[in-house]
Amino acid sequence: MKAIIIEEFGGAEQLKLKEANKPELKPDRLLVEVYATSVNPIDIKRRKGSFGGSLPLIVGGDIAGRVVEIGSDVTGFEVGDRVMANGSKTYAEVVSVRPDRTVKLDDTLSFEIAAAVPLTGQTAYEAIVRRGQVKNGERVLIHAGSGGVGTLAVQIAKIQGAWVASTASGSNQELLQSLGVDQPIDYEEEDFEEVLTGIDFVFDTIGGRVLEKSLSLIQNKGRLLSIAGDPSEFVDVKNYEAQYFSMKPTKEALEQLHEWLVQKRLKPVISRVYPFSQEGLRAAHELSETGHVRGKIIIRVKEEATN
Ligand SMILES: NC(=O)c1ccc[n+]([C@@H]2O[C@H](COP(=O)([O-])OP(=O)(O)OC[C@H]3O[C@@H](n4cnc5c(N)ncnc54)[C@H](OP(=O)(O)O)[C@@H]3O)[C@@H](O)[C@H]2O)c1
Repeated sequence: MKAIIIEEFGGAEQLKLKEANKPELKPDRLLVEVYATSVNPIDIKRRKGSFGGSLPLIVGGDIAGRVVEIGSDVTGFEVGDRVMANGSKTYAEVVSVRPDRTVKLDDTLSFEIAAAVPLTGQTAYEAIVRRGQVKNGERVLIHAGSGGVGTLAVQIAKIQGAWVASTASGSNQELLQSLGVDQPIDYEEEDFEEVLTGIDFVFDTIGGRVLEKSLSLIQNKGRLLSIAGDPSEFVDVKNYEAQYFSMKPTKEALEQLHEWLVQKRLKPVISRVYPFSQEGLRAAHELSETGHVRGKIIIRVKEEATN
């Protein structure tokens, strides 16, 4: 099979299209032929070697495709099933996935839409629903509502019945409004900590100064979750309901995300679709590295036949 391989940590030029061995089928796994995957900021951090690890390396965390082989212990799937899944090493034509991180994909959903959801959707779901327990009528601030995680977090907070404020640059204010944000904030023009009051919950996707200033919003009441920085760097967390978390996928969350997709209550935003080529992946990484992507970057690995 073909895969995008990283043989040395470094820049986007380290992404190379090569022949690789197809993953071995283990009894408790599925092999999925990948039709679409996506680029997440963590792929870039891994490419640069921020997490170390052994080389050569295949990165990527989102899978949309068809089941091609089924391990002997796995039930509930058939060869040919269209699926979406959380996984790893997804910049490849075939991946090995855990069935408890895989859901069958409704026929109304394209592989490109499905590939936009697993990693960012699980993260948004964990922040807003599972850990954040955002309730109807709560006042919520979501940073970078125009990003991969943020576009889904905003929509999930609206599904939960929250009032939502969200930050982005001037060029993304209309996008925030189209997602249902009640108070879009242009971070180039306004200081969010000055224009907002009575915030019950903050979801920080930026870290640094943004995280530090957000903590002042929840000083007296309220809670904060960050996926981009550790609140204890700025305050004594004994006095704050604030913590960092690292996403852990669950089947329950993936099923709920899938249901919302089918109901059209959750609509991923796709900024660009790149081909599964060396040039395509390099351009996709360079775009992601600007830090200003709208929604998701998708990689089309295989065209779906239309009848
Ligand atoms: N801990 C975890 O488990 C976990 C899971 C997923 C992601 N993450 C991390 O979370 C971060 C966000 O991920 P992502 O996929 O959403 O990234 P992303 O899609 O690359 O985010 C890009 C968005 O950020 C916005 N942005 C940039 N600077 C901003 C600022 N100062 N204030 C508000 N918005 C700003 C941009 O909007 P403008 O163009 O309008 O500026 C753009 O739409 C990354 O660092 C990622 O590694 C962590």
